[in-house]
Amino acid sequence: MTDPAARPTDTALQTARPGAGSVLVRAARREPVPHTPVWFMRQAGRSLPEYRQLREGVPMLEACRTPELVAEITMQPVRRHGVDAAILFSDIVVPLQAVGVDLDIVPGVGPVVAEPFRTRADLDRLPPLQPEQVPDVAESVRRTVAMLGETPLIGFAGAPFTLASYLVEGGPSRNHERTKALMHGDPRLWSDLCARLAGIAAAFLRVQVEAGAAAVQLFDSWAGALSRADYRRLVAPHSQTVLAAVGELGVPRIHFGVGTGELLADMAEAGTEVIGVDYRVALPDAVERTGGRYAVQGNLDPALLFAPWEALERRVVEIVQEGRQAPGHIFNLGHGVLPDTDPTVLTRVVELVHRVSGGDVEPA
Ligand code: CP3
Repeated sequence: MTDPAARPTDTALQTARPGAGSVLVRAARREPVPHTPVWFMRQAGRSLPEYRQLREGVPMLEACRTPELVAEITMQPVRRHGVDAAILFSDIVVPLQAVGVDLDIVPGVGPVVAEPFRTRADLDRLPPLQPEQVPDVAESVRRTVAMLGETPLIGFAGAPFTLASYLVEGGPSRNHERTKALMHGDPRLWSDLCARLAGIAAAFLRVQVEAGAAAVQLFDSWAGALSRADYRRLVAPHSQTVLAAVGELGVPRIHFGVGTGELLADMAEAGTEVIGVDYRVALPDAVERTGGRYAVQGNLDPALLFAPWEALERRVVEIVQEGRQAPGHIFNLGHGVLPDTDPTVLTRVVELVHRVSGGDVEPA
């Protein structure tokens, strides 16, 4: 461990941080930018042949814990597409595995937990995350940041609800029925579980930021399965804990979920600079629902990457224009890149966003 007294102050860390003056960070802070920054959720991964080649024979979680591989995979979409940010190649379940939860990522399925969490005794299997348990993650971030230069690295974590859903269901779930049963059947246990997960997510984000990540994204991917009342009462307070802990570090925060149209105001108020918007809600509506106080990120439907170029081009230009109504806009998809996406289309989208938002070309 480093001597805490020798740790630079948050402000010093901030000015020295690579990517702190990048277009992405400035847009997140609602400052003027020369063009709309663009990156894609799941930009590192199966849509790239160079990724599949590197991953051959290496299980997902092993890849996530091998710094040379993480740095290389994280760099691939930056080199290929010229995106304005990298996102660390990792997974939301990495910190859970690091504290000792027996789980695996099964290809084509997702995270699978050997013994699902259902009772109070299960809390004993969820101790706090110590930075010493993820030295490889800090090393991965340092290596990647050194390779990226001024391109910012986005660190990330799963939000308590989304993590809890994997732990309680034991794997991916369509209806989250066991999670909701626990949430309503034993609210005290639910709250204790989420408090533990909030601590783990906050510690995981802190490791990434202290190693050099320029921004963070909190993924509450499945929060859209909740009613607004349940989100506000049973989930938001825990996400708030995570976001507040990162807020102290001074890097911009992005808060994202899928199908969260009804929750956008609450997710924004949980403590973020940027609200992630999926493809179901138009950006101007998202701006209105969040009182015009937040930068927005989104929101091209990832399925449209399969449409004829003219149709896709029209929609991309429209999103760039709609984004101008927000106090800050980061172009992204409404959810992750689908595995069969043609990567050359992603490169064209990056070029198009830069061209039309840079203002030197008439929109199509
Ligand atoms: O490019 C990036 O976005 C960075 C890497 C990243 C991965 N997972 C790599 C990955 C990120 C940010 C995640 C986050 C993640 N993981 C989320 C939140 C984002 C979202 O999609 O809403 C969630 C819910 C998970 C859990 C998870 N891990 C799922 C649902 C899956 C897909 C299962 C499948 O095979 O269809 C994974 C596995 C995973 N995570 C892959 C990748 C590249 C695929 C594994 C492989 O390539 O073998």
